[in-house]
Amino acid sequence: MISLLIDPEIDFTRLPRHVAIIMDGNGRWAKKRLLNRVQGHGKGADTVRTIVRTCHEIKLPILTLYAFSTENWCRPKKEVDALMMLFSTFLKSEQGKLKNNNIRLNALGQIDRLPQKVQKALHDTMDATKENNGMLLNIAVSYGGRSEIVRAVKNIALKVKKGLIDPESSPESITEQLITEHLYTSGMDDPDLLIRTSGEKRISNFLLWQIAYSEIFVTDTLWPDFNKDELLSILKNYQNRERRFGKL
Ligand code: FPP
Repeated sequence: MISLLIDPEIDFTRLPRHVAIIMDGNGRWAKKRLLNRVQGHGKGADTVRTIVRTCHEIKLPILTLYAFSTENWCRPKKEVDALMMLFSTFLKSEQGKLKNNNIRLNALGQIDRLPQKVQKALHDTMDATKENNGMLLNIAVSYGGRSEIVRAVKNIALKVKKGLIDPESSPESITEQLITEHLYTSGMDDPDLLIRTSGEKRISNFLLWQIAYSEIFVTDTLWPDFNKDELLSILKNYQNRERRFGKL
């Protein structure tokens, strides 16, 4: 912590409020070492621990990690099962640390599609950390940006039908603000910075609505090799960017 605070190149008063990360490259990391993909995900989980710890140390308000997309259900059953097992063991092993470090866990995505064991581990951890008011850690599991928008629109339509939004059902009452309030991220600031590891320059259906003005940083580093120093150097890079939000 002390070494971070005396780093003269980072202005800790001007950190992003919300960092979102697409954790990619576990499979390639494993392949390079002649290991199986599941071993890559295991090493990826160690990186999750390191990055959560670093973000907590620097007092980042919100960290969102893309752990499993709606498309990832199409991977071989063996890999999906191993990832689900990893999520529940990770949550069980980290629950105490999250609670004691004032970190609140939240899940974004179609939680009801997850195996019962994972749902229980998620609910237990969310429950155990619900009073925490330090960093908010969002884990996106079975998450898809398009399906999140469809869900929001359906929920709005239901409310319109029940007369809960505007008794006259005027289309004018559908606003950006209303859609934002019906996303999984309702009430949260949008990500200021989106990081993607392992070099692919795509968004992969992640936070489509919320990243409208996020700064994007792609690193070639594979997720299991990503570390604290690289995260800090990305934060320095972010601080040197000029954000204009479409204005001059
Ligand atoms: C992408 O790498 C990674 C995933 C689909 C899973 C992410 C999961 C973890 C980092 C493990 C633990 C996470 C938590 C929250 C405990 P890939 O498999 O697509 O890699 P590749 O593109 O090299 O094949």
